[in-house]
Amino acid sequence: MDKLIIKGGKKLKGDVTVSGSKNASLPIFVATILAPGINQISNVPFLRDINTTIKVLESLGSQVEGNGNIVRIDTTNIISHEATYDLVKTMRASVLVLGPLLARFGKARVSLPGGCAIGARPINLHLKGLQALGAEITLEHGYVEAKCRRLKGARINFDVSTVGGTEHLMMAAATAKGETLLENAAREPEIVDLALYLNRMGAKIEGAGTDTIRIQGVSELSAASYEVMPDRIEAGTFMIAAAMTGGDIRIHNMKLEHLDALAFKMQDAGVEITSRDGVVRIKCPKRVKSVNIKTRPYPGFPTDMQAQFMAMMCVADGASVISENIFENRFMHVSELQRFGADITVEGNTATVKGVKKLSGAPVMATDLRASASLILAGLAAEGPTEVTRIYHLDRGYESIEKKFAALGADIQRVKE
Ligand code: EPZ
Repeated sequence: MDKLIIKGGKKLKGDVTVSGSKNASLPIFVATILAPGINQISNVPFLRDINTTIKVLESLGSQVEGNGNIVRIDTTNIISHEATYDLVKTMRASVLVLGPLLARFGKARVSLPGGCAIGARPINLHLKGLQALGAEITLEHGYVEAKCRRLKGARINFDVSTVGGTEHLMMAAATAKGETLLENAAREPEIVDLALYLNRMGAKIEGAGTDTIRIQGVSELSAASYEVMPDRIEAGTFMIAAAMTGGDIRIHNMKLEHLDALAFKMQDAGVEITSRDGVVRIKCPKRVKSVNIKTRPYPGFPTDMQAQFMAMMCVADGASVISENIFENRFMHVSELQRFGADITVEGNTATVKGVKKLSGAPVMATDLRASASLILAGLAAEGPTEVTRIYHLDRGYESIEKKFAALGADIQRVKE
């Protein structure tokens, strides 16, 4: 197992380029199941979750060439319609294969994902939506069995805004008979990216990125090529790293408009953010000021940036109140940040952070993907050495993050544990 050794206190300076989006790549890879043929997906990040998704596609019978930047996926010979427990437990987004398998082959058997570190994360709304499209769903032995000769368009209203649920039903409805309306749909940019790819395959989807998505079912789709959007959470992580270390960096290949809520809060905290010709510059000459945040579905403050923002508030001037409204257990980074000397108290889904002048480096352990990013950020700002273990969590969603930080002047290295 690898670990990261960080010697904090360096101001980050220079240029960094953001990789392709993990959370756009995963559903786009799954959508290739909807039609036979060869799909060329580009700007794909080199990540563990991408490798897992490729394993899922290959377990169904697809042929996949490459595992990053350019990936060619041939879904002509899909022979299995089952996603097994060992693959789904590795990455819960694998459950998204259910709808596309059902749409193309009329049947599917997919393991229930089970809970995860940040919450129960049920898929009841995915299944309710598939039933509304006419699927017969049964649950047994921890698996979802689904069958349906041909899905039929329906009007679906989500109880809560769900990214995966919206993606799942957009894919299933693309070839359903008639029109489907998704109301109270999630609005994340990754959903827009998936809709653009599906329309490239021949789907007729309008309204992605708003809370009402209209899908006219088509009789068949065909394979397509597509370039994945930049990863907005990786970009946001670099923005915060520059602010926490009093640095001055330029971030290439990111879309600032995907991070308005984060950028406004960082500007309230006194961080200078400018954007010109697709390059975003982050400067933070003075200590950041404390601000409050509440995580919300897009375009609200992203839950995937909550842990990173908390790390920044740990060294802010003043007290900040952070409320996590999406997942029920997404404060596992708190106890690890306290090992750096952070002053945080948690009451239910609210954390109060009293900024300290300096954090002190410490040995810490990653617990989930974004929490591990917050520990690196704290290490970069802390005095003295920090050691972060269990960084396989990190490798799920950040491509060579230690190399990117080192290129910005950080003293960080990956060693074998
Ligand atoms: C996606 O997860 C992302 N993952 C998550 O990123 C992200 O945190 C999350 O959206 C919220 O933005 C991918 O895109 C692969 P949800 P997803 O369905 O789709 C409840 C990361 O770090 N819910 O929008 O699983 C659910 O419990 C990951 O990259 C139901 O109750 O999230 C949660 O409270 C972590 N029933 C809320 O909705 C359902 O059927 C939002 O979940 C579905 C969801």
